[in-house]
Amino acid sequence: MTAALAAAFAVETRGLTKRFGAHAAVDDVHLAVPRGSVFGFLGPNGSGKTTTIRMLLGLASATAGEIRVLGRDMPHELNTVLPQVGALVEGPAFYPFLSGAANLHRLDTANRYAPGSTRNTRVRDALARVGLGHAEHKKVHAYSLGMKQRLGLANALLSPRELLVLDEPTNGLDPQGTREVRHLVRSLAADGATVFVSSHLLSEIEQICTHVGVMSAGRLVSQGTLDELRSTSDRRVRVVTPDPEAATRVLSGLGMQPVAFSESDLRPGDVESGVTAGLTDSVAPEEVVAALVTAGVRVRGFELVSSTLEERFVELTGEGFDVVQ
Ligand SMILES: Nc1ncnc2c1ncn2[C@@H]1O[C@H](COP(=O)(O)OP(=O)(O)OP(=O)(O)O)[C@@H](O)[C@H]1O
Ligand SMILES: [Mg+2]
Repeated sequence: MTAALAAAFAVETRGLTKRFGAHAAVDDVHLAVPRGSVFGFLGPNGSGKTTTIRMLLGLASATAGEIRVLGRDMPHELNTVLPQVGALVEGPAFYPFLSGAANLHRLDTANRYAPGSTRNTRVRDALARVGLGHAEHKKVHAYSLGMKQRLGLANALLSPRELLVLDEPTNGLDPQGTREVRHLVRSLAADGATVFVSSHLLSEIEQICTHVGVMSAGRLVSQGTLDELRSTSDRRVRVVTPDPEAATRVLSGLGMQPVAFSESDLRPGDVESGVTAGLTDSVAPEEVVAALVTAGVRVRGFELVSSTLEERFVELTGEGFDVVQ
């Protein structure tokens, strides 16, 4: 059996790191993408997704770490690996004065593994698959952003691939286009390909992924099946109190990781504040209440809640509106 067939993971990294000067854009990342999975690579803007993807594809060199793609070392075995990988990475370069179909022809001709005899059919099929059939003869400079993005996707689909790496494939697409891409990813997975797809929006890919990896400030902060990510988010406590700082100290003291909140109530000037935190196996909810009361925290409300995947994602990434630097 060849190394490629034996590998359980379509993508595997160890200690993958990329520094730009002193800044680690990707920091000690251990990715494990099972074969046949649809792996959602999630993270807010600037968290290191594109940088990671560029290293996986040999488009950027790693500062440190190891990469295996389809069981082979990257970038050393790049020539063996790349023919089996279809990729869409930020802004594929197209000739503006050629049509969509002509651009794909050129790109396919440049791929020495792609048979010329089937080129016409493959170009037509790929364009149809991304919904560009009607625009195949239109020049690319007259394409909208969403159409260019679709053309980039079509390029990734020109040959049958074992692995598809799609960096934010819904960039620039309208809601209908986003739905179509979701559908497309599902059908690619049904054909047996492993799909590694990045997004900064959980909602966009939670419906199609079997696995997720969550990036935050260059680090992979969570990785596993979608169900695993959900189950770790099961139970949380929510404490309403005018003393959120004191409550934060008490919960931290119990080994929890509290997050303070402050919400305006419907009544003007009335602000509800407090903390939420995930429950660990070692702390029972009643112990949390007892510890708060003993410490003199004014508990006005206490409830057990199940957080949504979205909340879990925000909690992991600390995502606000600021781009992580
Ligand atoms: N060529 C470069 N030189 C210097 N810094 C860079 C370079 N490329 C990326 N960075 C920095 O690395 C970090 C990660 O960037 P990256 O593009 O990988 O993020 P991302 O997760 O893909 O974000 P987005 O969701 O916006 O696409 C950012 O802080 C970015 O400014
Ligand atoms: Mg990016």
